[in-house]
Amino acid sequence: MVLRGGDHITLNVDSSYNQDPTKKSKSLRRLWRQLSRCQRSTIYIFGAFIICGLFYVVTDNDAKTSVVNQPEDVEIPKKDVLVNMRNDPRDVDNELPPNIGPQENHVLEEPEDTRNVDINVNNLSPHIFSSKVTKRQEAVIDAFKHAWKGYKTYAWGHDHLKPISEGYHDWFGLGLSIVDSLDTIYIMGLKNEFQEARDWVDKHLHFDINRDVNLFEVTIRVLGGLLSIYHLSGDRMFLNKAIDLGDRLLPCFESESSVPFSDINLFTRKAHAPKWSPDSSTSEVTTIQLEFRDLSRASGNPKYEKVVANVSRHVHGLEKTDGLVPIFINANTGQFRSYSTITLGARGDSYYEYLLKQWVQTGKTMDYLRDDYMEAISGVEKHLAKRTAPNGFLFIGELLVGGKDFKPKMDHLTCYLPGTLALGTHVGLPNDHLKLAEELLTTCYQTYAQQPTFLAPEITYFNIQGENSNDMYVKSNDAHNLLRPEFIESLWYMYQFTGNSTYQDWGWQIFQAFEKYTRVANGYTSIGNVKNAANVRPKDMMESFFLSETLKYLYLLFSDDTKLLDLDKFVINSEAHPLPIYQT
Ligand SMILES: *[C@@H]1O[C@H](CO)[C@@H](O)[C@H](O)[C@H]1NC(C)=O
Ligand SMILES: *[C@@H]1O[C@H](CO)[C@@H](O)[C@H](O)[C@H]1NC(C)=O
Repeated sequence: MVLRGGDHITLNVDSSYNQDPTKKSKSLRRLWRQLSRCQRSTIYIFGAFIICGLFYVVTDNDAKTSVVNQPEDVEIPKKDVLVNMRNDPRDVDNELPPNIGPQENHVLEEPEDTRNVDINVNNLSPHIFSSKVTKRQEAVIDAFKHAWKGYKTYAWGHDHLKPISEGYHDWFGLGLSIVDSLDTIYIMGLKNEFQEARDWVDKHLHFDINRDVNLFEVTIRVLGGLLSIYHLSGDRMFLNKAIDLGDRLLPCFESESSVPFSDINLFTRKAHAPKWSPDSSTSEVTTIQLEFRDLSRASGNPKYEKVVANVSRHVHGLEKTDGLVPIFINANTGQFRSYSTITLGARGDSYYEYLLKQWVQTGKTMDYLRDDYMEAISGVEKHLAKRTAPNGFLFIGELLVGGKDFKPKMDHLTCYLPGTLALGTHVGLPNDHLKLAEELLTTCYQTYAQQPTFLAPEITYFNIQGENSNDMYVKSNDAHNLLRPEFIESLWYMYQFTGNSTYQDWGWQIFQAFEKYTRVANGYTSIGNVKNAANVRPKDMMESFFLSETLKYLYLLFSDDTKLLDLDKFVINSEAHPLPIYQT
């Protein structure tokens, strides 16, 4: 449904007519009959003029204040106004108070200031997303609805959709796809989907689950998802769920060091190291801080923030290689496993991301984290950033055996880094970080563009010796694509801060490739081989991050409004869930 000037006129005329008492309208009708035909015609023409004039004013106003244009295919039920989205200017129906017209839209569009969260009120005011929806955004909404329909039909209430076998996959049994999608749905303004997802969370999401879950994954996806939608919608129900979950996760921190165990049973509340290793992953224990801190600030109970701040403090005190950390850490000793790999890919990546983002979240007050971040980026430039021999593409490699051997291998996961670097320069860190970000982004783009499918593999190797003319190559075991978001995420950050529409165009190319090779009848699927356009080997899995991150970042990237999600007000967690920035 598109909000047009005409709708407002109908609305205004209707509502003022409805306010007339019946008696009055009867006498008006009598008066009308007493008029001559000529008199009536004059009144008709005069009325038509007024309506035309009003229409002109209203449409003109629409253009100036960029009132939301819902794409045609978004169904908004006429009578079904959600309590939590009530103030959304998209709610054009009879239940709107008559004084809400386009003239007030600029007032309504003022985003809520969520920084000073009043913990005493039950419900926050909802945050309003009200930018003009572009054609490309409409295409992303269509993609989301397609994925959601498949999930709803075959996997509702389960963690992930298996779109080809028309089944589901349960990892933790927490309805991950629903919880991860809530804020994406909200930002896209999909009311029916929001209502059904909210109802499921309210009625069916509970944490009495006798199963081991991973602290990090549950924190970024479920705790982060619940807190984000609490802040956006203002609905206290989500915060209550988050508090229950946070309490069940706390026993992870009862280790001899302050470093948490990686796994916990939410029902028995027993925590332990993973079955396959005595150690926790470094990125995992350092990528829970935004969420636990926000839980403390939102609930008014400092206990969550305390335990995670302790972890950051502890890791800060450990010895590093020019700010770079090994990927394993022991919860009992609190020490790194010293011979483990150094990487900005799997198990290392978001340690660096959360150094910066915690500093941002706390109003740039935790300066030791910024200093660690600065040192780490220098360490990256010194040890990990290298160029390919043929064309000089800059990439980030890995150090093996505690820093002795360089491996010219980059996980797709590492493509989050340009976005984080760009965020850093936005909040005042040196501009040469932006230069680094631009170069890395170009390399990440090449990992897509050089494949016949225009989709990047999970891992790419780079040619630094000059043995042939190829800059990069992909091993068969690494040729899969899991619908990951990191590159799109970085495109969005870079577009936010540079306004360079090339980044939108790159995102559009990749979105087209997702449409072509991963869209199937019942959703989207990860694929086994990006190197063969004739047979991509669908893997029958749609992970929740596709809904939470990939489609959200695409939707944000294609908006012409760079303040649609304001990075001066929100810091975005590792699963694309926005959380408010505080002053301290
Ligand atoms: C923080 O760590 C210190 C020592 O590492 C410990 O004594 C203290 O109890 C910890 N605080 C919390 C809240 O875990
Ligand atoms: C936009 O980005 C592309 C890719 O990095 C670059 O080639 C181009 O010069 C940039 N345009 C502007 C105006 O900076």
